[in-house]
Amino acid sequence: MRDALGREINYMRLSITDRCNLRCCYCMPTEGVTPIVHDDILRYEELLRIAQAAAALGIDRFKVTGGEPLVRRGVADFIRALKALHGVRQVTLTTNGLLLPSMLDALLAAGMDAVNISLDTLDNAQYQAVTRSAHTADEVLHAVRLCAGRLPTKINAVLLPETASQLIPLSHLAQELPVDVRFIEQMPIGTGKTASAEAATSVLGRLRAVWPDLAPVEERRGNGPARYFAAGQLKGRIGLIQAVSHAFCTDCNRVRLTSTGFLKPCLCYDEGTDLKPLLRGGADDAALAAAMKQAISQKPAAHCFAQRQNITEHKSMNQIGG
Ligand code: GTP
Ligand code: 5AD
Ligand code: SF4
Repeated sequence: MRDALGREINYMRLSITDRCNLRCCYCMPTEGVTPIVHDDILRYEELLRIAQAAAALGIDRFKVTGGEPLVRRGVADFIRALKALHGVRQVTLTTNGLLLPSMLDALLAAGMDAVNISLDTLDNAQYQAVTRSAHTADEVLHAVRLCAGRLPTKINAVLLPETASQLIPLSHLAQELPVDVRFIEQMPIGTGKTASAEAATSVLGRLRAVWPDLAPVEERRGNGPARYFAAGQLKGRIGLIQAVSHAFCTDCNRVRLTSTGFLKPCLCYDEGTDLKPLLRGGADDAALAAAMKQAISQKPAAHCFAQRQNITEHKSMNQIGG
């Protein structure tokens, strides 16, 4: 469907859990995290009901997110059921990759169309510092290698001052493997709030010192806001997600559902519609669709990350789904 500004909304990010086996510095606090109580998290049947209503409104591609989506039991079956809904064209996943090796076959069999794997550094000590965990970058790299060539695979790297030396090593993965490597400006949401983001375009000069023919390509390689660059030596693409510096909002195609069933028209604001009381209060499909339409029609024109005092979203990223 189109929102009030005429933007075609066809992509929904579905957060299925706020829990995570990591504690990335820009996403979750180290301690004092109160997980959402089990009863407040939507059951898979409830998520599917919302997805079916969304598909009827023309939202035909879904991104399953978290927290870390793979920590929730039954995710492969959920993806299978999501893909089987009438009108659903594409289901993709954004994950930290740690649980992928043991689950990849089941996810592929369920029909998962593509995967994004978060990996901010190849240096194990840095990885442990950024993710505040005992896991290693090598584990994630193993998952990346398993996925490469089997399904469209992208690496997400948030641009952090402490991992600046990783720009070229991470980008080399797009030379070695058929994967895209995307650099994301850190957003002032949740624990990322106090960070000063490096503009993603500032990395282009450093990348061109290694790949002088790096040039923008117009092709779409997903449903998100990334802009892609190609070079002769690269099997995959380098992507930039100018989440802060670039107002790609005029082309925004997406809405978000939190794991508690709150439909969020924009990442930056806490406005939206809580669908859980409708689901659990016996609302029929027409009432559910009407509430969703109303929320989508109120989608704001743009984020306000440049004027931080106007940001009204105070949840952390793991509660929103990125
Ligand atoms: P695909 O390209 O289709 O795989 O989708 P995607 O890029 O939306 O997926 P992913 O979950 O990997 O998100 C990548 C980054 O883009 C995350 O940091 C998201 O928070 C960010 N992002 C996605 N949508 C928006 C948006 O509407 N606004 C902003 N500022 N950032 C976004
Ligand atoms: N800024 C930018 N990206 C973020 N992510 C999580 N928190 C932030 C933030 N504050 C990214 C994760 C993951 C995706 C879902 O969102 O690294 O790749
Ligand atoms: Fe977990 Fe993803 Fe948040 Fe890192 S960014 S703590 S992997 S939900």
